[in-house]
Amino acid sequence: MYNCAVLLAAGEGKRMKSATPKVLHKVCGKEMVNHVIDTLREAGIEDINVIVGRGAEKVKESTHSRKVSYSFQEKQLGTGHAVKCAKEFLLGKKGTVAVFTGDAPLITADTVKKLISFHESNGYKGTMLTSIVQNPYGYGRVIRKNNGEVNKIIEHKDCTEEELRINEINAGMYCFDIEALLNSIDKLSNGNAQGEYYLTDVIEILKSNGQKIGAIPVEFEETMGVNSRLQLADVGKVMRRRINNYHMENGVTLLDPENTYINSEVEIGRDTIIYPGNIIEGKTVIGENCILYPNSRIEDSVIEKGVTIQSSVILESRIGENTTVGPFAYIRPESIIGESVRIGDFVEVKKSVIGNNTKVSHLTYIGDAEVGEKCNFGCGTVVVNYDGKVKHKTIVGNNVFIGCNTNLISPVKVNDNSYIAAGSTITEEVPGNSLAIARARQINKEEWVTKRELKK
Ligand code: UD1
Ligand code: CA
Repeated sequence: MYNCAVLLAAGEGKRMKSATPKVLHKVCGKEMVNHVIDTLREAGIEDINVIVGRGAEKVKESTHSRKVSYSFQEKQLGTGHAVKCAKEFLLGKKGTVAVFTGDAPLITADTVKKLISFHESNGYKGTMLTSIVQNPYGYGRVIRKNNGEVNKIIEHKDCTEEELRINEINAGMYCFDIEALLNSIDKLSNGNAQGEYYLTDVIEILKSNGQKIGAIPVEFEETMGVNSRLQLADVGKVMRRRINNYHMENGVTLLDPENTYINSEVEIGRDTIIYPGNIIEGKTVIGENCILYPNSRIEDSVIEKGVTIQSSVILESRIGENTTVGPFAYIRPESIIGESVRIGDFVEVKKSVIGNNTKVSHLTYIGDAEVGEKCNFGCGTVVVNYDGKVKHKTIVGNNVFIGCNTNLISPVKVNDNSYIAAGSTITEEVPGNSLAIARARQINKEEWVTKRELKK
């Protein structure tokens, strides 16, 4: 059967106290609304319409790449009104529409599929997800008849004392027959405690027309919604545990999963060991047999197999096989580090290529440079790439030995097999196979201290 989805994302999220629309707050590095879009797609729903209102431009911008369509809800008059705004999207369509919210990102594709197939195979006009919870405060309550059938949903603020004690809640996730939904939303009224058009009233309307309503209870964990920063943290914790479990099941060792922060789109190879305090973000790919000692942040990078990293920051870069990084290294965007390279402590690399087997062991800055293989950078080497106006390029060949405390004033080239004497400031091209010395000769003024009577 044809299916599509409407995703409610027009609310402001007042309780978040944020300039960012609620559905754009991130959980494990991905906006909540995008989690839901991706899950719906994974469940086989292609045609998705997002209802935008508050912060519409921002929501459109951050969902744009996912190829969804949009409906606009100018005033947030309630969830029923929001669905009404998707009328144009739904008109003329026959089949099933899934209605989800952009503020509940833990729902899984399996549950969405289960919801749709249960709905369609039983011929229901509406089917909803519910949860049994300990503390139903704030949620809509599911009112069932004596025979167990769902009769209606009553919002918390409209409940009687007795209804408040019901602990089966409306998850706010549904499936409807498209035509039945279109016929019902016109009949919604706002005569309730909040003066809103409730989508939940559609259930009672369908019911009173003699239609059967389905309901599937699911784990509360999947239906948790985010209305506040506290709930954002709770949901983040669940998502993080799921991601970490997935990697451990794939053969990755996490020494302390509670303190390991891996974003949704990260890939990690087998037998990689990750110590606590690592934050792995963006579309990072980590190979097999790596060791990530504590406290690194790695974003949008490729780490090949056998790499060891400790207490470092690596952004939008590539680290070759068996290379070691850190402690306390900073690899900035567009750097390509070769295989079996050593990037040691307090080394910063920016937009540079470093060849295989090169050692940059300590206290060095390399920016806008191309460095060959098997070079050795002495402690305190600085590539002076910026003249105050323009960034220049430095080229270092293969097998170059750079003595400690060297400045390479860019643009400059150092050819293969050369040596640079410690303390040199190199401003001119160094020919291959040679030694460059660019420092003042030492003069010893003997007995200078004595003559000046400076001796203590
Ligand atoms: C809603 C349900 C409640 C359910 C709960 C589950 C209704 C009336 N109530 O309550 O039964 O237990 O979800 O989490 O549906 N939105 C719009 N336009 C609006 C209003 C809301 O797009 O005019 C969007 C919001 O951005 C949000 C979603 O709809 O993503 C849910 O709205 P929210 O105000 O959070 O509803 P709840 O009070 O949580
Ligand atoms: Ca909500």
